[in-house]
Amino acid sequence: MDDAVFPSFPPGFVWGVSTAAYQVEGAVDEDGRGKSGWDAFAAGPGRIRDGDTATMACDHYHRYPEDIALMAELGVDAYRFSFSWPRIQPGGAGPVNAAGLAFYDRLVDGLLAAGITPSPTLFHWDTPLELEQAGGWLNRDTAERFADYAQLLGAHFADRIPRWTTINEPVSVTMLGYGAGIHAPGLSLGFDALPAAHHLLLAHGMGVQALRSAGAGNIGIANNHGATWPASRSEGDLQAAGLYDAIANWLFADPILNGAYPEALAPFLPAVPDSDLPTIAAPIDWYGINSYNPTLVGAPRAGTGGQIDGHALDASLPFSLREVEDYPRTDFGWPVVPEAFTELLLGFKKRYGNKLPPIYITENGAAVNDGPGPDGRVHDQRRIEYADAHLRALKAAMDAGVDVRGYFHWSLLDNFEWAAGYSQRFGLVHVDFATQRRTPKDSFRWFSELIRAARDA
Ligand code: NOJ
Repeated sequence: MDDAVFPSFPPGFVWGVSTAAYQVEGAVDEDGRGKSGWDAFAAGPGRIRDGDTATMACDHYHRYPEDIALMAELGVDAYRFSFSWPRIQPGGAGPVNAAGLAFYDRLVDGLLAAGITPSPTLFHWDTPLELEQAGGWLNRDTAERFADYAQLLGAHFADRIPRWTTINEPVSVTMLGYGAGIHAPGLSLGFDALPAAHHLLLAHGMGVQALRSAGAGNIGIANNHGATWPASRSEGDLQAAGLYDAIANWLFADPILNGAYPEALAPFLPAVPDSDLPTIAAPIDWYGINSYNPTLVGAPRAGTGGQIDGHALDASLPFSLREVEDYPRTDFGWPVVPEAFTELLLGFKKRYGNKLPPIYITENGAAVNDGPGPDGRVHDQRRIEYADAHLRALKAAMDAGVDVRGYFHWSLLDNFEWAAGYSQRFGLVHVDFATQRRTPKDSFRWFSELIRAARDA
């Protein structure tokens, strides 16, 4: 057990925080923003816990100067935010909406003036509604539209933005949005969601090419990953866990880093043009890992596929998700297993060897729902413990040879947690959604001291 006050990291390691447009901006009807698939989905009955919507969210669209000041106080090197596609191209195609683009000019310039590196993601789930209505990611045309959008942002910002992410968690878009109906667009296609995965991959590859042709560089993707644990050593559980692992961990990483889909998925994949795979495998400069917890998977069980965040999965799936027992849980119910983070990173190194580019941890964090106490402060000790343990687990992987260049905590602010609405608080800064008052939590002070200690080391 390493009992130093803070885990130690090499000089130059990048410290950051992450957010996403739809989760923090609000201002959904301002300055010509078009609707997104998420606006339509969230408006449907029973989709979002407590009927919450992202109409106001954290009002980051107006309060970004205050949020930049908070980041400066926190001391981060970089801010990972996302561009809202329907703000930039309201219908998902065609000319730029100048007023929408101007918001990101203000944000980027504000960050640069504060000495914080803008590190945007082009797509964090807010598909323009017109594209969603035309089939969304099931439609190959959405990848073409994404390439135009990437080109346009690259051309505008290449000289001011030194680190780019194409797409956030395509695996979640595919599985939760098109496979299980938990996220927008709310389709429950099971394995028939896989064409969406292919088009997201294609969009990523075409986006990399478009950004480079526009003069932008230092490009990666951010995907969700977590160790998959078989429920037992039985043949049925091992097989089911292997298939789940191929979908949850390798469906995107293999084509990007290896130029081929995982073999286990061959029976389920759509026929695709041969020329797509080299596009998808366009070289990237780094690979981004969002990671929160491991998943326990077993053979199918009669009547239940298990659940994700309280949403039941289809019992006809060829696997079933189980509860990870014997570990503490976050307020979202997610198991806290830092050693699974080390296991995951070592697994990446083993799988891709020299083909693995440097890694950034583009998200990691915990839902800890504590609010201000009688002293006006937020004593979110469990977030501190989660982050401390995961950073030590990360360092253990680095010490074992995994090349990790930075860590972005999810999130700067409590925000709109998709289907869970505002019920789950991931922020280092508490947001009172009635007043928009921001209160830095104890974890904010802890993270800030950690960053300063790492810099001074
Ligand atoms: C994954 C997503 O990228 C982000 O939008 C979400 O809020 C966090 N993880 C927590 O679930």
